[in-house]
Amino acid sequence: MQDSTPAGPCVLVIFGASGDLTKRLLMPAIYHLKRSGLLPESFAVAGVARRDMTAAQFRDSLRKGFDQLSGEKLDPAAWDWLAQRMQYLAGNLDDPATYQRLGKLLGEIDSKYRTGGNYLFYFAIPSSEFDQVVQQLGAAGLVRQQQAAWRRVVIEKPFGSDLASAKELNHLLWEFLDESQIFRIDHYLGKETVQNIMVLRFANGLFEPLWNRHYIDHVQITVAESIGIGTRGTFYDATGALRDMVPNHLFQVMTLIAMEPPSCFEANATRNEKGKVLDAIHSFSRERLHSDVVRAQYAAGRVDGKPVPAYRDEQNVNPGSSTETYVALRLMIDNWRWAGVPFYLRTGKALATRKSQVIVRFKQAPLTLFRDTPVDRMTNNDLTVMIQPDEGVSLRFGAKIPGPDVRIGDVEMRFKYSEYFQAQATTGYETLLYDCMIGDASLFQRADTIESAWRIIQPILDEWKGNRSDPLPLYPAGSEGPDEADIMIGRNGRRWRPLIPPQTHAPA
Ligand code: BG6
Repeated sequence: MQDSTPAGPCVLVIFGASGDLTKRLLMPAIYHLKRSGLLPESFAVAGVARRDMTAAQFRDSLRKGFDQLSGEKLDPAAWDWLAQRMQYLAGNLDDPATYQRLGKLLGEIDSKYRTGGNYLFYFAIPSSEFDQVVQQLGAAGLVRQQQAAWRRVVIEKPFGSDLASAKELNHLLWEFLDESQIFRIDHYLGKETVQNIMVLRFANGLFEPLWNRHYIDHVQITVAESIGIGTRGTFYDATGALRDMVPNHLFQVMTLIAMEPPSCFEANATRNEKGKVLDAIHSFSRERLHSDVVRAQYAAGRVDGKPVPAYRDEQNVNPGSSTETYVALRLMIDNWRWAGVPFYLRTGKALATRKSQVIVRFKQAPLTLFRDTPVDRMTNNDLTVMIQPDEGVSLRFGAKIPGPDVRIGDVEMRFKYSEYFQAQATTGYETLLYDCMIGDASLFQRADTIESAWRIIQPILDEWKGNRSDPLPLYPAGSEGPDEADIMIGRNGRRWRPLIPPQTHAPA
């Protein structure tokens, strides 16, 4: 991104400007874009929220937030440049007058900063408010593109809460916007290592020839979090781990691992290939809903030595809640590349550690040659894409342990992003915001891929809705997850790669 050119003139309009997302991620990302020279001279930010405050107070609160949260030393010149371009409008999002005043403010900003009538509307608001903001923007004529001026909206997840509501939201958006104006954001696609999956696969001759059912035994995708649900009880209890993480973050990673090479780096070429992967996923039969899906909830435990209450005792959680905080799935992709290769996905809160990674496990070599030696098992060749916290790629293979006997030990070659590249601090939103400004939707979800993702998990949601009284497996906070997930993967003789490698095995 460093070598890119600045985006064209525009105003970033943030709905929910007084909220956490703006403070923690959006404004720091905008600041980083400024520091990288990627913002145009003709740029401004217009924050909109209910809270009554002046533009000066808005700037101040963002500045304080940056100092408290980022851990970076602020470049005063870059910040001042940005602060001069920050405006604030207090208003209720359900009040048409707010949008009239916004239209007027944007007109003034256009004259002052020569932003050309190009507006990027960012919905940093609860999903329950998406509908009304789209309708109000539409009614006020603010998303109508005129002459050379573009209008785009960025929509945060969750995009719907099931297939029907996602479809409804798509239809509502299309009443006022063309699909090319809609940027459905998934912040996982802003992560360098996630984007690197395409480079790893398609810019190297080494991996792609092996990237199929002939050589790959299975794939594990893990997004483990050590944090509980904190203050998000109200949202989370109505959402659960499946909706919160799977049709978006985990499926994005999975489609990048599984898709065919797109014909070019154009948004629709990539999204077509991702869509084909989702469409090829076997739907869950009744039987598979029991054998290939595990849900669980955390019980009290300790994470990093600190006590964590049971999920049901968390703030704003129903004490009898059956919302899952952990989910594991076995998916099968029914195409020529992947037939017979299971993809195991798991994600959960309050687990032993924070770790997001993909493990591509290759088939084992035959034991034949080593039959008369002390070797009784062959190494699992794992290609690991580490997404966080340490971004990188590693490859595990077997090597001879020095000595007169033939004995094999597991060794690992590791590439760490931080050791090779001088990466600047990022929030993961920089590339995504920049792409919205230049109109590149490659890293954003299209209506059909969103709906395909919900279609896959809809039978699970339906099943769970009907079975709320079934006992929900529990796992202690700070553990590797529920036994049921080990049983699921173990049914085919496989095991999860431990989140915390056993001490006795040096490299893992
Ligand atoms: C969000 C979920 O989309 O992603 C959160 O709503 C989750 O529940 C977060 O904690 C995880 O993101 P990251 O970047 O910390 O892995």
